[in-house]
Amino acid sequence: MALRTILTDEDELLRKVSREITQVDDRIQELIDDMIETMYENHGIGLAAVQVGVLRRLFVMDIQDGNGPYILINPQIVSQKGTQVGQEGCLSVPGRWGDVERPEKVVFKALDRTGKPIKLKAEGLLAVCACHEFDHLNGTLFTDKVTGELIRS
Ligand code: NI
Repeated sequence: MALRTILTDEDELLRKVSREITQVDDRIQELIDDMIETMYENHGIGLAAVQVGVLRRLFVMDIQDGNGPYILINPQIVSQKGTQVGQEGCLSVPGRWGDVERPEKVVFKALDRTGKPIKLKAEGLLAVCACHEFDHLNGTLFTDKVTGELIRS
């Protein structure tokens, strides 16, 4: 495993749409391991592949709920319900935070790291995190969706 460099928001790659993963091969396994290590090292709760410069539809999460790390390959939103507003930040947008509206509950379908189809039912913080990471796959940053003031520190 190896730490990877996290791109920051002046990098145009973060604005691109990531491509589907057609084969969950050794390269993808290595990428997943590196992303998890990089996420933990930087005290993040989620990381999308594009944030380490790989335009592939994959993200990892760990919200410290005892079930992580979550790994979602080619995720799709199946359903969503309700709304919640919470303060978000992003490893690619250092020093800035702001309130974003997200669904309270969201169901994703995806592949796990063995290539097996899975469903993830997320609510609360996990729903926030999953939607934030999913947005990265489409070139969207939380700063695009902040309601109210963007907080800088
Ligand atoms: Ni982010």
